[in-house]
Amino acid sequence: MASDPTVTIEELAGEQAIDDAVVAAFARLIPQLSKSSPPPGRSELMEMASSDADHVLVARDVDGTIIGSMTLVVFRIPTGIRAWIEDVVVDGDARGRGVGEALNRRAIEIARSRGAKTVDLTSRPSREAANRLYQRIGFVARETNVYRFDIS
Ligand SMILES: CC(C)(COP(=O)(O)OP(=O)(O)OC[C@H]1O[C@@H](n2cnc3c(N)ncnc32)[C@H](O)[C@@H]1OP(=O)(O)O)[C@@H](O)C(=O)NCCC(=O)NCCS
Repeated sequence: MASDPTVTIEELAGEQAIDDAVVAAFARLIPQLSKSSPPPGRSELMEMASSDADHVLVARDVDGTIIGSMTLVVFRIPTGIRAWIEDVVVDGDARGRGVGEALNRRAIEIARSRGAKTVDLTSRPSREAANRLYQRIGFVARETNVYRFDIS
């Protein structure tokens, strides 16, 4: 799918990048991704935007409205520099325009530029659009078990 050329992808880098519109955009987008996790507030967004590990990407429509977001995390471990994509979400009204693909492609570019060997993500099978999108871009399912320890 060709991404909509009127959509731009921007990295929110530094605390100054977090304005009222950004806080409002995450309040609108995160409930479309998770029913259980509240959206991040201004201070959490500032922490993410000023972290060396986090790359917070937003997609803006032609009028500047934020219509999608994702966070790439890049970190060094003994086996190399790795990257994870998390919390990919596109506003319901803006889906099907290649915004998700454009966010992922930018994240892969950043991961490559930071020396990451791989980019990982997980997606529940019920997220059909997301799973199709990732495979279309070139993500390949791995034979591994995904575990989670619930601390709460
Ligand atoms: C997954 C998601 C990020 C994709 O965003 P997107 O901007 O629609 O992505 P794209 O346009 O690049 O491609 C999405 C695919 O879904 C289709 N699609 C999904 N919803 C659509 C809609 N409302 N209208 C038109 N097409 C839609 C697209 O045609 C495309 O299908 P294809 O892969 O068969 O060509 C978005 O659907 C979303 O936010 N879903 C809810 C949250 C979620 O599941 N996040 C992923 C967590 S792992």
